Amino acid sequence: MSTTDKQLRVGMVGYAFMGAAHSQAWRTVNRVYDLPARARMALICGRDAGKVADAADRLGWETYTTDWRDLVSRDDIDVVDVCTPGDSHAEIALAALAAGKHVLCEKPLANTVSEARAMAAAAATAQAAGVRSMCGFNYRRVPAVTMMRQLVADGRLGVIRHVRATYLQDWIVDPQFPLVWRLQKDRAGSGALGDIGAHIIDLTQFVTGQRITGVSAVTETFVKERPLPAESSGLAATVDGAGPVDGHGSVDGHAPATGPVTVDDAAVFVARLDGGALATYEASRFATGRKNALRVEINGSLGTVVFDLERLNELEFYDATRPTAEQGFSRILVTEGEHPYMSAWWPPGHIIGYEHSFTHQMRDFIEAIATGVDPAPSFADALQVQLVLDAVTRSAELGSSWTEVEPALAPVAA
Ligand SMILES: NC(=O)c1ccc[n+]([C@@H]2O[C@H](COP(=O)([O-])OP(=O)(O)OC[C@H]3O[C@@H](n4cnc5c(N)ncnc54)[C@H](O)[C@@H]3O)[C@@H](O)[C@H]2O)c1
Repeated sequence: MSTTDKQLRVGMVGYAFMGAAHSQAWRTVNRVYDLPARARMALICGRDAGKVADAADRLGWETYTTDWRDLVSRDDIDVVDVCTPGDSHAEIALAALAAGKHVLCEKPLANTVSEARAMAAAAATAQAAGVRSMCGFNYRRVPAVTMMRQLVADGRLGVIRHVRATYLQDWIVDPQFPLVWRLQKDRAGSGALGDIGAHIIDLTQFVTGQRITGVSAVTETFVKERPLPAESSGLAATVDGAGPVDGHGSVDGHAPATGPVTVDDAAVFVARLDGGALATYEASRFATGRKNALRVEINGSLGTVVFDLERLNELEFYDATRPTAEQGFSRILVTEGEHPYMSAWWPPGHIIGYEHSFTHQMRDFIEAIATGVDPAPSFADALQVQLVLDAVTRSAELGSSWTEVEPALAPVAA
């Protein structure tokens, strides 16, 4: 429970899926952790006055605005939390940083490498003035994932040889599922690749401490044309603002109007990491039966560790240094007070869930701002993920040819 009087006044843009998840975390974080500053849920932004007023009330925000420019320019806002689709991340985050606000931006950082470069550069400039920024790769903050990183960093896995990562969903298997913003390149940047592939890229690099240097990829769009959305629902919520796709408007109420899917439905790639490991990645929205199945396995010379989001309180660990007769996978229940983030929650064995990763994210962000350190993943870290996404796309376009990941910083001229 926070005991400080110092406040950070938060303004959040977007109030649907991530808006709700972030709101829950902002509501909870001060009550669970004793932090050097308290988050105050000051202002929420959405474009529809009626809907955003309702969201403010439902999610616990003091007041609302219908224009993000108002939100970023107000003197009484310290932190801007960007929970909109990728097509507005760069514009909002750049304006917020220029106005001296700390920025938390959802992933992937941007829709293009050039946007991400501009954001990382602006974050570096703002950092000199004490302004902090972070990208929302929340899975880093699942306690079992943080512990996985500690095991690797402590040398318990030895030399990392293999990384095997899958992130599988099935919400667009039905070809009649509508053309929501996530299926439009100009709004989302890419499909399964940037949406869920970005998570496993960040997660595996975070856990291993190694960066992807090159890839060979295939991507596919299985269903190339879909009905235009009628109204929002479920995961596809918030099609408000997703206007008709050019040349595909409705035809006097006859055959349902359709539009082209302009992103990948699935992306599969092999990669090399800079510490010598070989890696495989699979991100798909067509894995029938798999709802939100994120699994990562790391094999090292001394052991193996496995994380499965559907059992997020657990880690599987194989310790090859144990006597041969005792070797085998053990299941670690990551709920002890000494496990990352867990001391503030419940007694051992009382498990936590998906939403806690966001509370941990807000905890770390508030602490970084209040103590004047740079949080991770930084915009520069998120730019590096964007460069991997870009390499995957280019490789797929070139018939899977080996494609190096561009360096985040241009080489210094001799
Ligand atoms: N960290 C995660 O696990 C995770 C999960 C899902 C989505 N995301 C990311 O979060 C972001 C948002 O995704 P979502 O699932 O919440 O989408 P969503 O469609 O559920 O919500 C988007 C919100 O943004 C609002 N919005 C769009 N344009 C706006 C504008 N110009 N001004 C003000 N509001 C605007 C919409 O009205 C809506 O409230 C995306 O970048 C996505 O990749 C992250």
